[in-house]
Amino acid sequence: MKTDFFKYQAQTTPHPLAMEISHAKGSYIYDTNAKAYLDFVAGVSACSLGHAHPKVIDAVKTQLDKYLHVMVYGEYIQAPAVELSKLIAAHLPKPLESTYLVNSGTEAVEGSLKLARRYTQRSEIIAAKNAYHGNTLGSLSLMDYEERKHPFLPLIPDIKHIEFNSESDLIQITENTAAIILETIQGGAGFIEPTNNYLAKVQERCNAVGAVFILDEIQPGIGRTGKLFGFENYNCQPDIVVTGKGLGGGLPIGAFTASTEMMSTLSDNPKLGHITTFGGNPVIAAAALATLKEITASNLIAETLKKEALIRKHLQHKHIKEIRGRGLMLAALTESADLTSQVILEAQNQGLILFWLLFEPKAIRITPPLTISNDEIIEGCRIITSILDSI
Ligand SMILES: Cc1ncc(COP(=O)(O)O)c(C=O)c1O
Repeated sequence: MKTDFFKYQAQTTPHPLAMEISHAKGSYIYDTNAKAYLDFVAGVSACSLGHAHPKVIDAVKTQLDKYLHVMVYGEYIQAPAVELSKLIAAHLPKPLESTYLVNSGTEAVEGSLKLARRYTQRSEIIAAKNAYHGNTLGSLSLMDYEERKHPFLPLIPDIKHIEFNSESDLIQITENTAAIILETIQGGAGFIEPTNNYLAKVQERCNAVGAVFILDEIQPGIGRTGKLFGFENYNCQPDIVVTGKGLGGGLPIGAFTASTEMMSTLSDNPKLGHITTFGGNPVIAAAALATLKEITASNLIAETLKKEALIRKHLQHKHIKEIRGRGLMLAALTESADLTSQVILEAQNQGLILFWLLFEPKAIRITPPLTISNDEIIEGCRIITSILDSI
């Protein structure tokens, strides 16, 4: 299998972790040698209810027996997609109530950019430096890393970059701006939270000049930061909310939600402003609906803050210089990229899954399932600190 993986499956890096998976359950992933790995990464913030959560599995199996794909997005009335969109609206402030379901986070970002341009009839988009919004051409255009963009030029024109958390940069949002898109908490950059009421100030500036305020909640959203949506922590309300990852309960999904008035511009003049075959797929929507119901009906969201406190308590070590983030979206920074890599690789040997962040090489990603137990947290932290002791 390993040989075929390298030969037939397109690779993303020269040295993938290449663990061969047998199965996964709860907070554990098992390899084909029957070794158990405690999962502190949750498929990069995607498996919010852990692995093979019974309610997600039941919802998928029930839907499998009814129907799979029957028609492109938006034509037929399919209960899982309707109920999911309705539940998302029930948990968002007005006027955010119309959701377009797509297949991935990056596609949801693309959809939100198209919607903002269509609605404002302006073209300029503003994004933050060090942001990550996905890897298709439009989302890649939002990135300010020239060396990552260069091989794929030309990308989308009319994109400007500002410094996240810089109030003085907000002057760059003007009456020419269609939209500003920000991650509620910058992920790849190192789990950087907005400070000093920054997002509320962005919202105020957007309102003043008629620009659309888009928040990318693909990573902080769906309960990971002590609220269902990360922006609820920061005294602000976007015009478009983009979600993905943890919404799907382990299946691929993306969504963007806006007011009905704004969203209706995608369906008229010209109609079919965004098209997807599989968006709103009934099996995936059923899994997402079960996930969202479970997260919103349980104590899981409130518990993320207690679990954060437990992680901070048990990760005290002289080589951990800082722990950034909120809830179960945490990054532990050591003094060097080399030390961080050693910890991540040795943790895998010792049965603990950790991972890197895209643009902050000193950070150890800690984004476990929301369902992780206190004992599992303590055990994972023990492995990390004992590795740090031994290096
Ligand atoms: C903040 C953010 N936006 C967008 C994306 C892209 O999502 P996807 O990989 O599902 O396309 C990611 C993925 O890591 C992300 O973290």
